Amino acid sequence: MENKKTYYITTPIYYPSDKLHIGHSYTTVAADAASRYKRAQGYDVMFLTGTDEHGQKIQRKAVDKGVTPQQYVDEVVAGIKELWKLLDITHDRFIRTTDQQHVEVVQKIFKKLYDQGDIYKSEYEGWYCTPCESFWTERQLVDGKCPDCGREVELTKEESYFFRLSKYQDRLIQYIEDHPEFIQPQTRQNEMLNNFLRPGLEDLCVSRTSFDWGIPVSFDDKHVVYVWIDALSNYASALGFMTENDSDYKRYWPADVHLVGKEIVRFHTIIWPIMLMALGEPLPKQVFGHGWLILEGGKMSKSKGNVVDPVILVEKYGVDAIRYFLLREVPFGSDGVYSEEALVNRLNSDLANDLGNLLSRTVTMIDKYFGGVLPAFVDSKDPLDASLIELAEATSVKVEDLMEKLLFSNALAEIWKLVGRTNKYIDETMPWVLAKDEAKKARLGTVLYNLAESLRITAVLISPFMPNTPLRIFEQLGIVEDSDKVWASVKKFGALKAGAVVKKGGIIFPRVEFAKEEPVKEEPKKEAKQAPVKQEEAKKEEKAAAADPGYITIDDFAKIDFRVAKVLECERVEGADKLLKLQLEVGSEKRQVVSGIAKHYKPEELIGKYVVLVANLKPVKLKGIESNGMILAASNEGALTLVAPVSEISTGSKVS
Ligand code: MSP
Repeated sequence: MENKKTYYITTPIYYPSDKLHIGHSYTTVAADAASRYKRAQGYDVMFLTGTDEHGQKIQRKAVDKGVTPQQYVDEVVAGIKELWKLLDITHDRFIRTTDQQHVEVVQKIFKKLYDQGDIYKSEYEGWYCTPCESFWTERQLVDGKCPDCGREVELTKEESYFFRLSKYQDRLIQYIEDHPEFIQPQTRQNEMLNNFLRPGLEDLCVSRTSFDWGIPVSFDDKHVVYVWIDALSNYASALGFMTENDSDYKRYWPADVHLVGKEIVRFHTIIWPIMLMALGEPLPKQVFGHGWLILEGGKMSKSKGNVVDPVILVEKYGVDAIRYFLLREVPFGSDGVYSEEALVNRLNSDLANDLGNLLSRTVTMIDKYFGGVLPAFVDSKDPLDASLIELAEATSVKVEDLMEKLLFSNALAEIWKLVGRTNKYIDETMPWVLAKDEAKKARLGTVLYNLAESLRITAVLISPFMPNTPLRIFEQLGIVEDSDKVWASVKKFGALKAGAVVKKGGIIFPRVEFAKEEPVKEEPKKEAKQAPVKQEEAKKEEKAAAADPGYITIDDFAKIDFRVAKVLECERVEGADKLLKLQLEVGSEKRQVVSGIAKHYKPEELIGKYVVLVANLKPVKLKGIESNGMILAASNEGALTLVAPVSEISTGSKVS
């Protein structure tokens, strides 16, 4: 253990917003794949994730819910932990910024910076954006709003402590220029240098007095530490930095990579490195800012329903399919459009067709032609075999190179070239033709061995991305030796021993029919494709929307199609004393609706009356009678009245 090479990787710590969506899972699944890969390479990995629990935003949410901030975060954090379990995330440590050790470390960091003069007391007068937890000067505002998210900012005037960012600005510019690998991808480095560092840094306000859900400044407890100073410190506090038990810090720091979404690169490549410089600590080796998964309409939020709910998606398609999709669909670093349809397409083509069929064909043929027992490897020198073997042996080298650069999608594309080549090998060698000729039995055996061995190599290579599928492949191929399942075994074709007994199992990826959900109505788009800054806005809006848990959006409301309707006929439903069957006119259309209002209205009273109909409610049968919609009624303690337009208007008119 001691002489193993270490690899320290982190995700951002998540805000405990009510529910995470599939976009949130992206960083964590990526960090998990990188961690599993490094472990497979023999590294001693420390993979850290956690939750960012302090700040004004969380305090307000808790107040809205009528609970204490601690109660609020405890509940949400439990859900986040469950989600990571569901996605097979193998983090080694989970930090919460409410953990006592973290609190103490942040206080020590703050005190040290204060004692050495890097933090000083003054007064803050300026603007604060609560959804972003960001300070802005008058000059930085855009049309008086937050330049990041476009929301209202609050004028803040309070006694505050300040951190001398400006003192370290030139050192940081020099460091970034000397270490081109520090900020990745390259475009983000240019953005940081040109937009923030070279124009000049202002000292940062690092404490607040207007609320108390935060870490108190140890020597002045009417102040709490600014939430980003608190949050960024997690990467060191989780390892015991500045505590008696700092062996993990000594072992793993500096971090190999902080994986973060592009909107928080600024905090990780300016504030955090300057904190570390001021503390005299080495900087992380790399900050990698990945892009966002966006929905076709631009923003992703839980209000978009099941299509973005990772729990529902995992239930529907399985963990490995979701992980594969996240890592394959979008090059890490770029933005990508997410849709459930694209997910289903990938699942059907890459997983069910390419990989799943390859396995089932291979196992079926070994079963049929060799009684289920794997024939021996023969180095045949046949050019078809040679080309397959050459690609299989080269693939791991390419995957390793790409994984070092965190290019997950490209790594998977290389593995799927091998899958494609192996499928093509079946077409080229035509085992079913060889099987007809007894004299070609040995050749048939070699072909089937090569298929099984290529699949074994594929299974090992996909294991960082999809932890469950390799186990099923090994099982069906009858591979039991651990030595055939490890990364080192993929370098040389032919490791698989003859005599393995294959076991036909279920289809590993059944094809899925895609049923499109009712599209969520969007406000009409002014631009077909959103410019990056719009996406930034969209993302921030989405974050802020999550702060109003009880509200629905105008988009939610627009999903319901309310129409004015007129009752043409009405009768009682036999055997149901509460139900009336109504025939309605809705514009040019006729509708039958069954309604539970028989105790309040006689059928004849309603004929000719105008009502309001929910026209797009899924049809149901009540007492065997089809009901196509619902009419609105107000009720209160046993009283009930139908809702109707106050003056006459044509039926079919939209109510909104
Ligand atoms: N609490 C801060 C991070 C502090 S780290 C010291 C935070 N939390 S967050 O919950 O808002 O975001 C966590 C991560 O999820 C970020 O890396 C963010 O970029 C990522 N994503 C949130 N929505 C996303 C998509 N739609 N697509 C890809 N990643 C997304 O920021």
